[in-house]
Amino acid sequence: MNRRYRKTIIAGNWKMNKTPSETKAFAEEFKALLPKTKWCDVVLCVPFVDLPAAVRGFKDSRVSVGAENLYFEKSGAFTGEVSADMLVDLDVKYVIIGHSERRQYFGETDVTVNKKVHTALEAGLSPIICVGESLEQREMGVTMELIALQVKSALAGVPAEQMRRCVIAYEPIWAIGTGKTATGDQAAEVCSFIRATIRSLYGARIARGVTIQYGGSMNPKNAAELLSHEDIDGGLIGGASLKPDQLMEIVHAANQD
Ligand code: 13P
Repeated sequence: MNRRYRKTIIAGNWKMNKTPSETKAFAEEFKALLPKTKWCDVVLCVPFVDLPAAVRGFKDSRVSVGAENLYFEKSGAFTGEVSADMLVDLDVKYVIIGHSERRQYFGETDVTVNKKVHTALEAGLSPIICVGESLEQREMGVTMELIALQVKSALAGVPAEQMRRCVIAYEPIWAIGTGKTATGDQAAEVCSFIRATIRSLYGARIARGVTIQYGGSMNPKNAAELLSHEDIDGGLIGGASLKPDQLMEIVHAANQD
């Protein structure tokens, strides 16, 4: 983390978990645990149907609410999809874009990710853009090339003034939901590389202000070590974000000096 130049953001990604009633209960429990001091930002990204309950539950708290996806068209005949305007109208602030599960199971590509990033930014949302390599790609030694391609294509055509609202999440696919975390050094190496890629596109001043998260089996035990690295500015947390006490322990880890 480097709080001088950029926000530390601890974000939960619930994936396809919890009902609206469970969301309401989670919000009550989590709010009661929130520390008084404010250092890191806390975001909870939840399924579409849980968004109203989450926004209501976290009203007047420091927790912002995010969606897990959106569609890039403004409106129209796209059965089952959700637009950026619909999210904004609900008071949603963040949206995850290009999660590896969406790339893997729902056919998202670097091109659709780029379209979605533009749609989110134009609507005033903050995109959390996910990038990351598979185990095969890591073993083939192409991690950095792949990450550069994902970052550059996601940000293609994004003007400098909108970069301030973009968050990048480095999520190695082999560490997601596997209990196998990247070591701090492995994660930091890629997060620094992501910042260098942004520097090559937008210059040093903008690059040092971008929040870059790590995601992949982050939990209360490993969070402090991961967050101690200069270029890791937070976490995108799956499994451990489903339990209020575990997510709060990670928030505490991000609040350490
Ligand atoms: P886990 O924390 O469950 O590994 O999930 C990480 C993730 O995919 C967050 O987007």
